[in-house]
Amino acid sequence: MISYKRSHYLTQFIERQKAAGKKIGFVPTMGALHAGHISLIEAAKKECNIVVCSIFVNPTQFNNPEDLLKYPRTLEADMNLLEAAGCDLLFIPSVNEMYPKGTLNFKAPNLGAIVEVLEGSHRPGHFEGVMQVVSLLLDKVQATHLFMGLKDYQQFAICSKMVAFQKRNIVMRGLDTMREANGLAMSSRNVRLSKKGRRKASIIFETLSWVKSNLAQCNISELQVKASEKLSNDTDFTLEYFAIVDKDTLQESKSKENLIALCAVWLEGVRLIDNMIL
Ligand code: PAF
Repeated sequence: MISYKRSHYLTQFIERQKAAGKKIGFVPTMGALHAGHISLIEAAKKECNIVVCSIFVNPTQFNNPEDLLKYPRTLEADMNLLEAAGCDLLFIPSVNEMYPKGTLNFKAPNLGAIVEVLEGSHRPGHFEGVMQVVSLLLDKVQATHLFMGLKDYQQFAICSKMVAFQKRNIVMRGLDTMREANGLAMSSRNVRLSKKGRRKASIIFETLSWVKSNLAQCNISELQVKASEKLSNDTDFTLEYFAIVDKDTLQESKSKENLIALCAVWLEGVRLIDNMIL
């Protein structure tokens, strides 16, 4: 695996590959890689000739400075995992490499209400930061295919809209969430949970599954209330939101078709998000 810290070398490499007609699959990450990330690399390998992964802990998407500070950084282990998975190129830029003119000159596309709800309303500025960095990375990587995990469902929906808005010719691939044996969605932040925390966090998947299996019998607001109660019963958990919304617009819906349930909870000082298409 080649690794570059400088965009200049990355761009030269990509230009050669594109001139040879190669399909470039891109997996953007913030590192602390787990099996979920590796499944993205594997999917990219199946569909593309060259697989590029980036590891960059993007400061502009953290609305909480403590979260940025505590974000796990495990570069050596990440590189080993990527190498074993057959990733061709790793891009590991510094903050200065990504933002040589500072971070304040990005104008986020206006994608409407999808940016404002759920994660958007609880993490002000988060999606603007995600759009900023994904946009810059796509300028550099010139990917033909972009692979992202559906654990961050709203992020995937927003990036898909942004790519269309910016008229980039990129195939978007959203891959299913990988889960621990107890159902906990894999996430880089999970390493900050204790063993007990990891065990207890299975309630999130259980609640989402409960909602899915009770959709036919109950109305949406009833499901929302009961699911919220399930996630709030244990005082170790603080529920930020539990929402059942249309899976394309992420707005409330009266219909029982095309729905997704999404939630964010705090456990042991770690913010966990998850979702399930109903
Ligand atoms: O999902 C992530 O890891 C990040 O939000 C992303 C897409 C790499 C942008 O920094």
